[in-house]
Amino acid sequence: MIRLVYVSTCAQNVQLDDVESILRVAESWNADREISGMLCWSGEFFLQCLEGERGPVTQCFAHIARDRRHHSVELIVSSPTTVRWFSTWGMGFTRLMSSGRVDLPNFAGGSFNPYLLEATDLQDTFARLASQAQRLSVDP
Ligand SMILES: Cc1cc2nc3c(=O)[nH]c(=O)nc-3n(C[C@H](O)[C@H](O)[C@H](O)COP(=O)(O)O)c2cc1C
Repeated sequence: MIRLVYVSTCAQNVQLDDVESILRVAESWNADREISGMLCWSGEFFLQCLEGERGPVTQCFAHIARDRRHHSVELIVSSPTTVRWFSTWGMGFTRLMSSGRVDLPNFAGGSFNPYLLEATDLQDTFARLASQAQRLSVDP
């Protein structure tokens, strides 16, 4: 398996509706390919972790990188792993965060700018994000 984490900047017109439709596609597509992970959305930025077999994760990321709903896609890490960080959430599940609810020590007093994340901060950051994550209910 690999774990891939990237950061990107939302296109200007991206709203909650757009993120809901991203999640709808992502949940079914990712579940079919046994990709787990988490999508964080701060209104301005996306931060996403994808975990699974190398082929499906790479293919998924290639699709995502071409998506016009965001730009300035920057890979933070892509590395082999034997452990899923998000296995307890089930395959292909995503969670949405809003920046107002994020409480991260490395961003204390500042705004959430995931471009500043170091690969070594990721596990702790995702653990904190996951503990604060809200489930976005997405109708089929
Ligand atoms: C920030 C962001 C995250 C996304 N995450 C996923 C994802 O995890 N899985 C997925 O299948 N599509 C995801 N998408 C949507 C894909 O970019 C793409 O629209 C989708 O795979 C459908 O592909 P198609 O447009 O070629 O049919 C994401 C899009 C954005 C902007």
